[in-house]
Amino acid sequence: MARIPPDVIDRVRDSADILDVVNQYIDLKRRGRNYFGICPFHQEKTPSFSVAPDKGIYHCFGCGAGGNAINFIMEHEKLSFVESVKSLGERYGIEINFEEGAGSGEFFSGLYEIHEKAADLYHGILFSERGSAALSYLNERGLTDKTLKLFRVGFAPESGDVLLNTCRGVFSEEILEKSGLFNKGQSGFFDRFRSRIMFPIAKASGKIIAFGGRIFSIDDPAKYLNSPETPLYKKSDILYGMDTTKSEIRDERNAILVEGYTDLLQIYQSGIKSVVAVSGTALTQNHVNQLGKFTKKVSVLYDGDEAGIRAAVRAGYILLRGSVEAAMVEVPDGMDPDDWVQKEGPKPLQSAIKNASSLLAFHLKSVSMKTMSAAERSELIKDILREISGIKDPVVRDDFLKSLASSAGLDDVEVIRMFKSQLKRKYKPDSQPEAGSEPDLFTTVETKAQAEIVRIIASQDSRFLERISSTLDIDLFTNPLLKKLAVFIIDKKGELTISELLDQLDEKGEREKVSALFMEDMDLMDSDQALKECIRSLKGQKLKDQIKAVRLELRDIESAGGDGSEQLNAIAKLQKELDDLE
Ligand code: UTP
Ligand code: MN
Repeated sequence: MARIPPDVIDRVRDSADILDVVNQYIDLKRRGRNYFGICPFHQEKTPSFSVAPDKGIYHCFGCGAGGNAINFIMEHEKLSFVESVKSLGERYGIEINFEEGAGSGEFFSGLYEIHEKAADLYHGILFSERGSAALSYLNERGLTDKTLKLFRVGFAPESGDVLLNTCRGVFSEEILEKSGLFNKGQSGFFDRFRSRIMFPIAKASGKIIAFGGRIFSIDDPAKYLNSPETPLYKKSDILYGMDTTKSEIRDERNAILVEGYTDLLQIYQSGIKSVVAVSGTALTQNHVNQLGKFTKKVSVLYDGDEAGIRAAVRAGYILLRGSVEAAMVEVPDGMDPDDWVQKEGPKPLQSAIKNASSLLAFHLKSVSMKTMSAAERSELIKDILREISGIKDPVVRDDFLKSLASSAGLDDVEVIRMFKSQLKRKYKPDSQPEAGSEPDLFTTVETKAQAEIVRIIASQDSRFLERISSTLDIDLFTNPLLKKLAVFIIDKKGELTISELLDQLDEKGEREKVSALFMEDMDLMDSDQALKECIRSLKGQKLKDQIKAVRLELRDIESAGGDGSEQLNAIAKLQKELDDLE
């Protein structure tokens, strides 16, 4: 991605007033020095989201969200760092110029551009003479021009060189190749998508990164052909439609999850707008993590055939493992949501969404447990226990176990016993662990002192840092995050804002911890005195660790019948240093 020069980022950060930025989205009320409001990142009734205008940061005491103005836009609008800086730049009238010649930056913007160009081209063709048959077909299926325009649906003709002719000479060979929009044959490139209705697939920010193409008018075994994975497109990361529907999903606190592009378009057009589709892949934990940022409840609306029901059950458990509630919507036998809405309008669907079943009820019904033999039932229960052993939330898990026991006509205790024995065989989730989910904040004696030092030196000026530089030994820092911050503050001689400090951290989890640290009001204690105490505590801790290590060494030597006098001396010396400290 293109790079924004650091001085421009500084200007944006300095101009972006956190109060003004947050106020666009939530009402804030002043309480003391800080402002409070309802947190946009988790559900709550009483405000625990706070903004400290003087520090340029926000922090939620309820869910731990936190950061500076740029981070707020990143999290709230689901934008990248660069995109957030751009958006703030627009708001504050700062022109964002990108650094030229940054090799990979050019490469990525080339890939974005070629997708934008392709979407334009295909969309134009659908509404031209060459696309008229495809357009009538779509209209006959009930999709209006307005919907097709909103989602920029297009048509790729059969010839195989339409896109190539617009892109050759404009983009480098490398871009053509890596875009996934072309195949390479004996005589060079040709269009990957031929005689297909084209659905542009965009990231949540709206940038198009791939296409799904539905076959039209010619025979082809693949009804849908999608872009291959490219440097831009990882299909397990992308939910189709999210860019258009994310704000509805957030407002409704619910997302309706469908399987197909046409399901999404049809449902959206009928007025049910909080909808997303998995495209060309099964739902992944990654998808769920993304959805989970907007809503804690997803209505699973898959096709009403056997394959759809099976996939829906799978999706339900994946949602549950990501701490998102799955409401399972029943679609009449053999229909898909698209057909259903086309035939009967949105009313029946709306009421089915309202009357959705729990995952367990839906699952048990789908396998008709009631008619199973005892042995089959036992296998099924084991399968279910395996699925839910990955659920992180113990409350959700226990609730599930209890319902399972009662539906299966078993004793709670028995089911819990089965579950525990199942747990011993470890569950492997199908994706990497979430970032930023480690236990929070700086709570041990040692890290508390380090955090306090960082807080003190960040709020002081250069003279203070000069004065204490001889006593502050950076090696006393054992926590890598706090050490990184301390080094940075010392480097900058304390001349920096907390908001700027946050931009040194790439990881959301780290930013949240650090915002929490700075949001707590500093005691108006004498900084010199506090700092001395922290340093002493760290030195003491280090000496105690050293003593412990030598004691272990001594024990080994003595039990082997050796001479431990050297170790005894060392311990005495360390102990004296420790006594002198206190
Ligand atoms: P369906 O086969 O149910 O198609 O696939 P559909 O959405 O109902 O399409 P229409 O109504 O015939 O036009 C559902 C979804 O699965 C993916 C696509 O995302 C599709 O929308 N899929 C399906 C593929 O990726 N490849 C395929 O070959 C088929
Ligand atoms: Mn269909």
